[in-house]
Amino acid sequence: MSPRLLHFNAFIWPNGYHESAWRLADDDVRNVLGLPYFADIARTAERGMLDSIFLADNVAIAEYRATHLPQVQFDPIAVLSALAASTEHIGLIGTGSTTYNEPWELARRFATLDHLSGGRAGWNIVTTVTPLAAASFGQRGHPDHADRYERAEEFVAVASQIWDSWADDAIVGDRDGGVWADRAKLRAADHHGRYFDVEGVQPFPRSPQGRPVLVLAGQSGAGVRLAARHAEMAFSGPPSLEAAVAFRTDLHAQAAAWGRNPEQVLVLPALMVTIGGTEAEARARAERLEELSSSEFRWQNALYTAGLDPDAFDPDAPLPATLWQDPSPSTRTDQLFAAARARPDASLREIARRVTGGAGQTHFVGTPEQLADHVMTWQDAGAVDGFTIMGSTLPYELTAFVDHVVPILQRRHRFRTEYTGPTLRDHLGLARPDV
Ligand SMILES: Cc1cc2nc3c(=O)[nH]c(=O)nc-3n(C[C@H](O)[C@H](O)[C@H](O)COP(=O)(O)O)c2cc1C
Repeated sequence: MSPRLLHFNAFIWPNGYHESAWRLADDDVRNVLGLPYFADIARTAERGMLDSIFLADNVAIAEYRATHLPQVQFDPIAVLSALAASTEHIGLIGTGSTTYNEPWELARRFATLDHLSGGRAGWNIVTTVTPLAAASFGQRGHPDHADRYERAEEFVAVASQIWDSWADDAIVGDRDGGVWADRAKLRAADHHGRYFDVEGVQPFPRSPQGRPVLVLAGQSGAGVRLAARHAEMAFSGPPSLEAAVAFRTDLHAQAAAWGRNPEQVLVLPALMVTIGGTEAEARARAERLEELSSSEFRWQNALYTAGLDPDAFDPDAPLPATLWQDPSPSTRTDQLFAAARARPDASLREIARRVTGGAGQTHFVGTPEQLADHVMTWQDAGAVDGFTIMGSTLPYELTAFVDHVVPILQRRHRFRTEYTGPTLRDHLGLARPDV
């Protein structure tokens, strides 16, 4: 049996995913605030025939980040809607929080994107780790992890009812008879649950893909359970090959237990890449990025991505034991607390160095050949269906990936040489859900 084609999702993070990337970019720092910056990157990804581009979402930001990193947390769906007009094929995946949105409103926005893009929308379902968002939304507190995932489960069920509230063949278009759509083919959402009460039909017909492609990046037990039930693409995955095989096997077994076909659950973990023409060149690029990084940023970021407020801590003192003795509120908090438990006397600044970056990704540094070998090894081991590629700098790494890695994988018959259908589901080989 010939190996299956790989899938690639390009994570667009302004200037690149490495915290120092913006300091190496030589154009105006404000460029990341304009549509041309995003459109150029999206078109590069499309030139490489990648499956999709991806935008993260953090509904609120901590002020410390403004010092250290470009702050460009636009509304992803608004940006992707604009990119729908400047691209033709590439999938458009955006993040939407189930904790800080209402199902009606978010389902409608993603279905709008799916219509406007001709069936290219994907929704990365997140529950939002940072507690800062609560204050922005006038809420007293950030719900705990279990509560967030319970709400997410109900949210997805309601969103699906909204998307499915028009039958695919509801539009009649009978000008003579004066019938635009067959009302009998509408079935209003009618949901009354613990978190939501939603009734009504989506204010426009079902979108080209029926539902946007559902994506999840949860790593905890609850996160993986939600993915097993609903996700068609998973972004998470542990850094070692053996653990990644176990992760995908477990996700697929859980999906099968829900009566789903595991082949319809693709695993594309995040992989930060730094590419060079030679290994030495790639290493020099990665080292330069590290040299420019700040220990101030690292400790604050380790707390922030763990859902803690950096302003409340002293970086030169150990992380208070009272904190890490309690159960961790999230996977990322686990990583920080495990580092603190391993070295209880070390300062926060020191333990922060041991914690991985924001999305828990691994960092690949090497040549296009080496990267092609790496992704094929992981695919052949059954660890992945592809990767979510995070250029340590952008657009440089993505351009290098498209111009040098993609052709190698095409020659080895591991990557498409043309798009075979118009929708993101077509690119990914995912079935279109029935009503
Ligand atoms: C590639 C990737 C992208 C992510 N994007 C976001 C995001 O945009 N917004 C967000 O709040 N969380 C994001 N996350 C975090 C996950 O949704 C999730 O909360 C995290 O992996 C921890 O898992 P858990 O929620 O099961 O504990 C991302 C994670 C990964 C691996």
